[in-house]
Formats: sequence, structure tokens, C-alpha cells
Amino acid sequence: MGRLEGKRAIVTGGGGNIGSTTSKLLATEGAKVLVADVVGPAAEACAEDIRRAGGVAVAYELDLAEEASIVGMMDTVQAEFGGLDILYNNAAATLIARVDDGGIEDMDLDIWNTTMAVNLTGAMIASKLAIPLMKASGGGSIVNTLSGGASSGTPRQSAYLVSKAGLLQLTRAIATQHGRDGIRCNAVGPGFTVSPDPNRQGAAKFADQLMKRNLIGRLGQPEDIANAVRFLVSDEASFITGQVLIVDGGASAHGGDVAPGPT
Ligand SMILES: NC(=O)c1ccc[n+]([C@@H]2O[C@H](COP(=O)([O-])OP(=O)(O)OC[C@H]3O[C@@H](n4cnc5c(N)ncnc54)[C@H](O)[C@@H]3O)[C@@H](O)[C@H]2O)c1
Repeated sequence: MGRLEGKRAIVTGGGGNIGSTTSKLLATEGAKVLVADVVGPAAEACAEDIRRAGGVAVAYELDLAEEASIVGMMDTVQAEFGGLDILYNNAAATLIARVDDGGIEDMDLDIWNTTMAVNLTGAMIASKLAIPLMKASGGGSIVNTLSGGASSGTPRQSAYLVSKAGLLQLTRAIATQHGRDGIRCNAVGPGFTVSPDPNRQGAAKFADQLMKRNLIGRLGQPEDIANAVRFLVSDEASFITGQVLIVDGGASAHGGDVAPGPT
């Protein structure tokens, strides 16, 4: 018996690096997974991998910037799985964040608005629509995705990090308003996480610098985030709500640019 046997889950951005790894891990724990992504073939590839490994998964082509698309995702999970227990709001407009999102003085309004629509408003609408389904299931668990960098100022990625800071407050609002419905809401805060896709590895050039900040002495892997999400959505975390689990090798736990060497 897996830890999530019988649970029905949605993973947004499930075609991406952390999303596909987490979708597969939740499926190995017994969850049925709706893998949702704006890149339909990527969602389908992940769902197919899960099915080939003996799990249950369906793909859904989702655009978080479109409310009707999110409504369609909830209709699909209801039709395919008969309800919803887990929502992992993982998707983000990461390519925009890595390529075009800079400082406030030069901020392009389209970049700002798209970032907020996908990362923040999309997660809010998905949560809003998930809550009645979770109430009907007797409870559920929502996990939002922040960023290790969302708690301090940076010279770039202004829109991205503002959207992530907004997700922190969304997490607390849902946790506060729905604890008595049996619905928990937490957030995971990845630090830099290695991706096999060079197009999505925007921070690779900072890898040496990031290695120096980490207290653990290695870079983060998507499995590190997936393991944290698995814990947060499981019954083992049943007394944890409104919290953030930062998974960054301790990079944000100290003030120095460089972690102390071995003692
Ligand atoms: N990788 C890192 O270093 C890192 C660090 C901190 C936080 N994060 C966060 O972790 C999450 C996953 O990141 P990742 O590294 O796997 O990136 P990724 O780019 O591989 O995955 C993001 C996924 O979201 C999807 N997406 C983008 N726009 C969408 C839309 N409009 N509707 C639906 N899906 C959409 C993309 O197609 C992609 O598959 C993101 O929220 C990201 O901000 C990642």
C-alpha cells in the first residue's frame, strides 16, 4: 500500500522538470494523477510514463492564464477520477522569468501581467475551484510553489518573485479559511533545482555560486522537491498547514554569500 492509495491528484506544470518528477512519485504512492501543462505533449508524455509503470494518470492541456481552461481541468478530474484530494500548484511561467523578467524600472507590463496571471491568479483560481471538490471528499491538501529567493530582494526576476511572495499569502489565506473543512494548504520553496533541459536551465551559469551557498554541498534535484511535496500531501503531515517548507540545501539559512567550509 502506498502512502497516497486512493487519492486523486492534480499537478499543474506536470510536463516540466519538478512537476513530472512529482507526478511520477505521487503515482508510485498510489495516487491517480491528472498531469496538466500548457505543453500538451509534455503532459501526455509524463502521463504515459506513469501508465507504463502501472500507475493511473491522464493528461490535460492547461493554460493557467485562461479561467475556462482551469474550469475544464476540474471538470476533467471530476469525470476521470470522481473527485479531488490533492492539488499541487507547481506551474509557473518559468521561461519568461528566466529570459525577460528584470528590474522594476524597465518592467514590461505584458511580462508583469502574464507572470501574475499564470503564477498567482492561475493558482488562486485552481484552488478556488478545488476547494468545493475537496469539501465533497471530506478534505484535501493544496501545495503551492514558492521559491527560495522569494523572501529577499534581487536585481532581476522582479515579477516572478512578487508572484511567488503573493503565493505565500494565498497559502496562509486558504489554510486559515479551510482548516475546519479538513483542507490543508502549505507551500514548498525550492532553491535552485537542476534540470536536464538546457532551455530551462537558466540559472546553470550560477551553479558554482549556488554550490558555495548550499550547506549540504550539492545542487538540488527535482526528487528533493518531489519528496517534500509527497510528505506535505500525505497524512504524515496532517497537523501541518499554512507553512512553507524551504528545500534549498540550507542556502537561505545563513547570511553569508559563501557557506562555511568543513569543520
Ligand atoms: N528549478 C528551479 O531552480 C526552481 C527554483 C525555485 C522555484 N521553482 C519553481 O518550481 C516550479 C517548477 O519549476 P521547474 O524548475 O520544474 O520549471 P519548468 O519550466 O520545468 O516547469 C514549469 C512548467 O509549467 C508549465 N507552464 C508554464 N506556463 C503555463 C501555463 N500558462 N499553464 C500551465 N502550465 C504552464 C511549463 O510548460 C512547464 O512544464 C515553478 O513554480 C518554479 O517557479 C523552481
